[in-house]
Amino acid sequence: MTASGAQPVANSARLEERVAELLSTMTLTEKIGQMSQVNAAENYVTDWLRADIQSGRIGAILNQVDVDVVNEIQRIAVEESRLGIPLLIGRDVIHGFKTVLPIPLGQAASWNPELVRAGAAVAAREAAACGINWTFAPMLDISRDPRWGRIAESLGEDPFLSSCLGAAMVRGFQGVSLDQPDTIAACGKHFAGYGAAESGRDYATTNIPENELRNNYLVPFHSAVNAGVTSLMTSFSDLDGIPASANEFLLRRILRCEWQFDGFVVSDWDSVRQLQIHGLTDNDKESAYQAVNAGVDMEMAGDSYRNYIESLVEQGRLSIDLIDMAVGNILRIKFRLGLFDNPYTDASMFPPPGDPEALALAREFALQSVVLLKNDNRVLPLQIDKINSLAVIGPLANAPYEQLGTWIFDGDESFSITGVDAIRELAGDRLNIEYHQALETSRSKSTESFDEVINVVERCDASVLFLGEESILSGEAHCRADIDLPGAQADLVARLRRTGKPLIAVVLAGRPLTLTNIVDQVDALLMAWHPGTMGGPAIADLLFGVHSPSGKLPASFPRHVGQIPIHYNQKNTGKPPSQQSIVHIDDIDAEAPQTSLGMTAFHLDTGYKPLWPFGYGLSYAHFRYSNLRCSAKEIHDGEVLEVFADLTNDGEVPADEVAQLYVRDLVGSVTRPVRELKNFKRVTVQPGETITLRFELPANALAFYGRNQELQIEPGEFHVWVGGSSEAELQSSFRLVSDS
Ligand code: BGC
Repeated sequence: MTASGAQPVANSARLEERVAELLSTMTLTEKIGQMSQVNAAENYVTDWLRADIQSGRIGAILNQVDVDVVNEIQRIAVEESRLGIPLLIGRDVIHGFKTVLPIPLGQAASWNPELVRAGAAVAAREAAACGINWTFAPMLDISRDPRWGRIAESLGEDPFLSSCLGAAMVRGFQGVSLDQPDTIAACGKHFAGYGAAESGRDYATTNIPENELRNNYLVPFHSAVNAGVTSLMTSFSDLDGIPASANEFLLRRILRCEWQFDGFVVSDWDSVRQLQIHGLTDNDKESAYQAVNAGVDMEMAGDSYRNYIESLVEQGRLSIDLIDMAVGNILRIKFRLGLFDNPYTDASMFPPPGDPEALALAREFALQSVVLLKNDNRVLPLQIDKINSLAVIGPLANAPYEQLGTWIFDGDESFSITGVDAIRELAGDRLNIEYHQALETSRSKSTESFDEVINVVERCDASVLFLGEESILSGEAHCRADIDLPGAQADLVARLRRTGKPLIAVVLAGRPLTLTNIVDQVDALLMAWHPGTMGGPAIADLLFGVHSPSGKLPASFPRHVGQIPIHYNQKNTGKPPSQQSIVHIDDIDAEAPQTSLGMTAFHLDTGYKPLWPFGYGLSYAHFRYSNLRCSAKEIHDGEVLEVFADLTNDGEVPADEVAQLYVRDLVGSVTRPVRELKNFKRVTVQPGETITLRFELPANALAFYGRNQELQIEPGEFHVWVGGSSEAELQSSFRLVSDS
């Protein structure tokens, strides 16, 4: 097993020899070339690109997706450069390629690692058909801030869920063996802490204490490294005063010394030169020096390495050993990818984009990612034989592009099936469907059409409103300070409420929104994220009860933006809030004297709870948890506790449930979260059936970074809960006993 884990390279000694042999024949210029990635998006080989590849000044490109151009680029590298080193061809394949899967946050709502793996495998296959051999995914940034547009691209707020799903995505992209034609190298990003950007503004500063960094933000990256991820990308942000692209603590101490990572590190787009803009350096040469020195092996889309490494080496500021180490890290992955044996892509070996298998997977994924947040009086599922007409309303009901979400450079919207199309298809001639867009976009403020829309809703038996955000409102550089439904959508809901007709909201968005102002106005609410190509059919199946919703929230939904950052795994504080301790702003007397005694950590106007907590999601079935028990009262180091609970489906339909196990470590050398997710399982339960859930809880899963920033197991008492959300009530306890 190599240090990077799961990809066993049987002949790793031979591989290291090949890396060393090649390095020994390279000039400094060729080495710097391997450390340089350039943007090559034109659909032909430009003269400068050809010349730079021929002279060995480029080791990787990004953004070329024409397979003929890619093959020509590889041919130039292999046949016309002195050493014939093939190139890495990078692309943001974030949630699908031509066939678009739900956005990563939606994927996380499926709580289904196998589906995440399979989705990444399909994306890898479609991308590999274009000659791409390296994706900039998965994004592993923990995000507790839905204002941050890139929460869409994240796997949510929890380190354990993000770790399981991030590792699954790595396995999906990289397959069993990286040298297969349909696998591509993955890149965990953005190392590290990017999701903690102040006030949720992309690229803003992050300040994360080391203990918090280690116990939360770094956890999914470590898991990806253990799963064999071949590369990591630094983040744009400044972490505690040192931007990630110059952060030796992250890149050398943690990544190389502690985790023994043997892949390579790439900067984010031009983030080496941005070290100067951050105010860390005063010129590009110094930026190149700091980045190489800190451990950034490859510069993406900047030219500071190409311009300055040579003189930094000549001046003796950068040693050739350091350069060799960086180049070796990159060559190692090129060998593992099998590029030296076969640098070319035979597109005819691959199924055409949008093949039935890919579309079926996209549909299943969308289905499992939708979360039912509200369902009063069981208005859902719609009974097709009990209604005659259905109004389908809203700016996102028939928006083939918008349903795909952010980061879909290669997504083919012609494959998209929208909500209204899918509802029409499913209902056939059994229902009269009336569609009205109501608002031109999700941001439109004009209420001009509302009277017309009210008429439509009034003459139908029920209405489905497709609301939310267009895809451009989330993703990189698209952050919002106000995360209510944009435009006049809330007004629309309020106007339609007055009709007295059943209203079902389907929200498509790249982030948790504050839905407080519409939640009481609708009878049912489905959170569909940006569900991708097959979002429409999945939503239609759920609306009509072909399947039951089974997604669970991977991130808390705040009641109010002022609650952010918000996450379930908070610390208890010395004055923890409870329902009883809350005082509401309206209940405070005039000229009330200052009080703090008996007061706790809450907001006078909003309390302390989210609108919906992490892990939450309803079903058409009714699930009941009971009989929680542990295999022992105590566990020792190295042992595995088994935790059992019974899960009964008291409802009338078969359904999937995501059962979740949380623990609380009651006393620690550093304070511990009130709950931590430690295991979960997606299971199918038939009506009337009771199944016994069995979770494994290894003692080492209870380890954490303590006061000395070392991973350790501390003995003591733990509470354990099993249930359907982070607010599960069924509780037991056990003791962890340390033998050392
Ligand atoms: C983003 C990265 C992305 C890169 C290449 C940057 O702006 O932050 O996540 O992989 O561009 O497109």
